[in-house]
Amino acid sequence: MSVQSLVLRHGKIEQRVYFAAVDAEPPQEFLSEREKAQLAGFQFAAKKQAFLLGRLAAKRALGALLLEPDLRQIEIRSGIYGQPLVHHPRAGSAQVSVSHSQGLAVALAFPAEVPMGIDLETVSAVAAETIISALEASAPELAWLATAGVDQAIAYCVLWTAREALGKALKIGLNSPLGVLALSDIRAIGEISSDEGSWAGRYLNFPQSQCLSQVQGDRVLSLAMPREAELNSQLQIS
Ligand SMILES: CC(C)(COP(=O)(O)OP(=O)(O)OC[C@H]1O[C@@H](n2cnc3c(N)ncnc32)[C@H](O)[C@@H]1OP(=O)(O)O)[C@@H](O)C(=O)NCCC(=O)NCCS
Repeated sequence: MSVQSLVLRHGKIEQRVYFAAVDAEPPQEFLSEREKAQLAGFQFAAKKQAFLLGRLAAKRALGALLLEPDLRQIEIRSGIYGQPLVHHPRAGSAQVSVSHSQGLAVALAFPAEVPMGIDLETVSAVAAETIISALEASAPELAWLATAGVDQAIAYCVLWTAREALGKALKIGLNSPLGVLALSDIRAIGEISSDEGSWAGRYLNFPQSQCLSQVQGDRVLSLAMPREAELNSQLQIS
């Protein structure tokens, strides 16, 4: 799949960000020696696949941002909270946010000046009842769930991915009580049907951030970013 180039506006500043989605397990030539050793250490095939797809998506997005065609030159390590760290001679402030779900990985490469995070879930693979009990949904979220007009499992995925996307943007992951990352309001963008829609939300405890969520097929993708920032297009999973 090709890399999507987008323009991010924040006030008078415009910057390019790059989004990549990968769904076919690639040969390993794009990994650095360190990453190959890391891959060899994973016990389970599913973890290996997620790592490969995620690293390729991340490197494709970063390759476009850093103008680096040789993806072995870009290395992604992990910080102590699991956050991805970009290593490259021209990395500068480049960052990447990664998510994998059920054979698909997505990555967004962006400058650290504009903190962003993404999260992807596969609707048919989630246990809706488990999600709703873990969410610690806020009162506005409960009100939205009752009137959203979209399939319940999709709605739960929207609220879940909104939390994870912000957790990644803040680099804390989901290591805080999930209610801390709840939304204070959520509104549909355009037409909603039972299995399609896009939403914009704001966070209860992080008023400087916003969330954009969308359903594409069986997947829900959420993006957390500064409230005043705007992207010129939706992220395209396929
Ligand atoms: C962030 C987190 C929830 C992602 O988990 P996930 O849904 O299984 O996985 P995703 O595919 O969406 O995202 C994984 C990627 O997120 C990124 N990530 C992990 N921790 C991150 C953090 N603190 N900040 C930013 N990004 C992070 C990594 O790039 C990771 O991919 P990689 O390990 O291949 O590099 C997880 O790593 C975490 O914080 N765990 C804490 C404990 C927990 O799981 N709580 C669940 C409460 S019910």
